[in-house]
Amino acid sequence: MRPREPVTLKTLRRMAARGEKFACLAAYDATTARWLERGGVHVLLAGDSAAQVVLGYERTIDAPIDFLIQITAALKRGAPRTLVMADMPFMSYHASVEGAMANAARFMREGLADVVKLEVDETFAPLVDRLTRAGVPVCAHVGFRPQTTAVLGGPTAQGRTEETLEQLVRDAVAMERAGAVLILVEAVPDEVTERIVKSVSVPVIGIGAGTACHGQILVVHDLLGLTDRPPRFAEPVDTLGERIRAAGADWAERVRTDRIGGVRYSMRDGAGARTDPAKPALPDERKHDGRVSTQGPGGQP
Ligand code: KIV
Repeated sequence: MRPREPVTLKTLRRMAARGEKFACLAAYDATTARWLERGGVHVLLAGDSAAQVVLGYERTIDAPIDFLIQITAALKRGAPRTLVMADMPFMSYHASVEGAMANAARFMREGLADVVKLEVDETFAPLVDRLTRAGVPVCAHVGFRPQTTAVLGGPTAQGRTEETLEQLVRDAVAMERAGAVLILVEAVPDEVTERIVKSVSVPVIGIGAGTACHGQILVVHDLLGLTDRPPRFAEPVDTLGERIRAAGADWAERVRTDRIGGVRYSMRDGAGARTDPAKPALPDERKHDGRVSTQGPGGQP
């Protein structure tokens, strides 16, 4: 299969103009990114949700900036033909414009980000303008902004009244005027998204925001069935959590009952390296358990 053309902002604009929906996922590592790119996902976000799903914190505001920069670069290395977006974490763009510019530069240089995402309302327009003029493509995340959960008193859908609906449309319009290249809208009624899509000309990505947007995003752990209590809009397509549990149980049982061993586990004979994806599996290995791995860690299939 020929690798696809790299997904760029032009690709997303073209798709949006043609009414072709694009698929986005928040993901956190190079291996998953590699498979998602092979699956045809267009955009990967190194989300600050990593604080919860990878690091085990309760809140997204606990995501460390260095960690997010690392996983952004990991996504790009794993999926070089995918548009990779970096989530700028809590307080990394609030204290000063200079601080925000320096942090955005780190996401682009060290993190290899194609776009940086900021949780914003219209008051952030001067910052988005400065970043854009400096060459940083910004995705403006409006609606429910998880980094403001403490102020809201808990995760809360936004835009449910006429007044707040109008405010969210103003936020999105102000962001486009300031230079934002993408809008992401979270946890709002369908009418809000419809109004935003009609009011701006940049592609709009939605999460829990109806179907009017040009692209849809979910957390990959929710999609795969790894999350114990996924948000209600995140319908899992797999039960990977259960399959990991079963694999763990199987491994524990094999170790307990001494059902490992043979040439695969011996470093005396055969290939010197731990894995060598260029070499086929040894005939002896095939005999050992009838299963031949076609991919070692880090190898290609
Ligand atoms: O951090 C995150 O996962 C997000 C969502 C919009 C997917 O920001």
